[in-house]
Amino acid sequence: MLSIVLPTYNEAENIPVLIPKLREVLRDIPHEIIIVDDNSPDETWRIGMEVSKDMEDVHVVRRVDKRGLSSAVIDGFLSAKGDVLAVMDADGQHDMNLLPDLYKAVIENKGFAVGSRYIEGGSVGEWDERRQLISRVATKMALALCKVKVKDPMSGFFALDRAVFEGALEKLNPKGFKILLDLLVHAPKGTSAMEIPFTFSTRLHGESKLSWKVQLDFLEYLYDVTIGRFIPLTFVKFCMVGTLGVGVHMAAYLSLARLLGGGEQLNVAGFSLAVIGATEVAIIFNFSLNNIWTFANQKLKGIGAIKGFGKYNVACILGAIANWAVSTFLFSRGWVELLAVFIGAITGVLWNYSMNRMITWRK
Ligand code: GDD
Ligand code: MN
Repeated sequence: MLSIVLPTYNEAENIPVLIPKLREVLRDIPHEIIIVDDNSPDETWRIGMEVSKDMEDVHVVRRVDKRGLSSAVIDGFLSAKGDVLAVMDADGQHDMNLLPDLYKAVIENKGFAVGSRYIEGGSVGEWDERRQLISRVATKMALALCKVKVKDPMSGFFALDRAVFEGALEKLNPKGFKILLDLLVHAPKGTSAMEIPFTFSTRLHGESKLSWKVQLDFLEYLYDVTIGRFIPLTFVKFCMVGTLGVGVHMAAYLSLARLLGGGEQLNVAGFSLAVIGATEVAIIFNFSLNNIWTFANQKLKGIGAIKGFGKYNVACILGAIANWAVSTFLFSRGWVELLAVFIGAITGVLWNYSMNRMITWRK
């Protein structure tokens, strides 16, 4: 059986056109059609349900707490019953007449069958220069990663054997649009893959959801599956935030010192107070930026954010003590002063990262 997933976001105008045609194309193949909609504002899910009211082969999954093409496809595959799984844009851009061929190819090769724009006979159709360039560069970068090679690893039109999907499932990264690439990266070496050419047509209605955010997700993904295996991206971001935080700390210290001293030199008590104040300002800054950027996909909100902020403070105090202890210890052992301070600071950063990863933004 073929299970075809149609991920949708604001495709209410396209679904009523697409579904009857698709059923016609698939009439000789045992199949099910699964629409996975992310609670589209145009109510694609409702249109999907209305259109398919009397169709046993069409199902609608409405997700209210998630957004994203890749994760929609994964959820669609998870609810599928077929031994061959496939995906296609729900906007008419993919040539549905190829589905029977993709299906047969997977039955035979037990691997992938990809609708390809980049082999003889295929084409990207009417794309502007900019999008062509972005797609070509992205494809080149992506190809370097794949264990299973195809000419068009970024295609959104493909089919695969259920077992291949299940084998890769737990390693998949649901960010962004690159579901095929992700599957090709995680499928075992030697999995067969064949390509069938097609021309990418223009949308029936509506507009593309491939935003700059999706393109950024793609770059993050490339990092995640290469260097990210050794140095997590969240750690790199955490360090960047920390570096900015040092600037914030200095600026806050200078303003507080001016405020407390009224232009005069501070005494020791005044100095400590300014440093403590500046530290808290930096902590607030770092916490906020880490929460909305570094750990964006685990963003804490409401009460959770307040609790998280408390934990973050605790973790950072411990980090400061770790920093102090290490640098003082090294210094007392006769290490060069600045080296001791530096190693202390690095210890603090590593400590803060690990502690916050464990207690504030726990996976
Ligand atoms: N559920 C869900 N959630 N569906 C989504 C989301 C989302 O967040 N974002 C997009 N979709 C759906 C769209 O409604 C459409 O049916 C399909 O996913 C593809 O999105 P498009 O917005 O049509 O993307 P595109 O045509 O610009 O990009 C195509 O080419 C890319 C390669 O250049 C797609 O085929 C991509 O998959 C492909 O990577
Ligand atoms: Mn499309």
